[in-house]
Amino acid sequence: MKEIKKVAILTAGGDCPGLNPVIRAVTKTAITKYGLEVMGVRHGYFGLYHGDFIKLGLEDVEDIFTKGGTILYSSNKDNLFQYPVKDENGNLVRDENGKLVYEDASDVAVENLKKAGIDAIFILGGDGSLTSARDFARKGVKVIGIPKTIDNDLAHTDYTFGFDTAVTVATDGLDRVRTTGMSHHRIMVVEIMGRGAGWMTLHAGIAGAADAILIPEIPYDINKVAEKIQKDKANGKDFSIVAVAEGAKSLDGKQVVSKIIEDSADSIRLGGVGALVADQLEKLTGSEARATTLGHIQRGGTPTSRDRILSARYGYAAVELCMNGGFGRMVALRGDKIIDVSLEDVIGQKTKNVDPNGEYVTLAKAMGICFGD
Ligand code: F6P
Repeated sequence: MKEIKKVAILTAGGDCPGLNPVIRAVTKTAITKYGLEVMGVRHGYFGLYHGDFIKLGLEDVEDIFTKGGTILYSSNKDNLFQYPVKDENGNLVRDENGKLVYEDASDVAVENLKKAGIDAIFILGGDGSLTSARDFARKGVKVIGIPKTIDNDLAHTDYTFGFDTAVTVATDGLDRVRTTGMSHHRIMVVEIMGRGAGWMTLHAGIAGAADAILIPEIPYDINKVAEKIQKDKANGKDFSIVAVAEGAKSLDGKQVVSKIIEDSADSIRLGGVGALVADQLEKLTGSEARATTLGHIQRGGTPTSRDRILSARYGYAAVELCMNGGFGRMVALRGDKIIDVSLEDVIGQKTKNVDPNGEYVTLAKAMGICFGD
């Protein structure tokens, strides 16, 4: 097997706290322990397509561990295996029906890696970005995956980095609306990120003592939520906290879409369910309601120490995996152990969702938290 001398790091998809600590851990381990040359791919897969590489030295990564985002930048639009074609002016090309025209541009990326002399690449991503990582591995690229997403919905790992910070921010949000809600006897609805999985809302909802938690995995009946609030009111609790995931579904199964980004690999952006729920609850209960959307506040800022440690563990383990020839695999957390799993298995399985009959939902219900079911 060809010796590994030069490696690259790529951050793809929505950013999240912990990316920089992973970049730091990979770079430091690769240089200090193995004497490797380390490159960063800028702007995610977009940069891989354009050959946008920079050299990373120890000094470049020394002080990045407290920074949110990614010093390498990211893109959550670019799937090189299904890439929208652009004309010479950079405009999207459409067919006769007005539909975007796509091509497989992955060979360009493979060629760029070869030209730059990169022997292996670390890809930090969630479900979508790691699907491409798997596809590059299938083409013979030496890929190591590192699981990133605030949603914590990636299969085969108990936790992704970024999740703990996002939950901490969301919990703080719930704590803050609680005091103002209490002062004005209001229903305070907080919309928390999470498209298909309600992990963040469930964890923050329990930590922040929400009265109702609405998540995509448990379709809600708004009347049931209103009944719970009325009951609490009758028992003397005259304010309520409702934690709602942006992907929460009412009984008709519909989610609230905020915008469609046509040339994005995953074009739907959700948002607005918090305002809808607040409006409905105000009408049904007669109590004043207010909605707050946390949105990207959850994705920005300093990673928690827990996320920094997980990032360091993942970064170190990823370099070890690479030096042991574990390509096409992803580092993962199982219990308190770092393990590695095949990207084929991670991507082959559906995303990881909240079990409506699992421990967390069960304990929340036992404490009187309403899920609208
Ligand atoms: O997947 C992470 C995530 O933050 C989701 O929770 C959210 O729905 C989405 O990304 C938002 O994406 P964007 O930054 O493109 O608005």
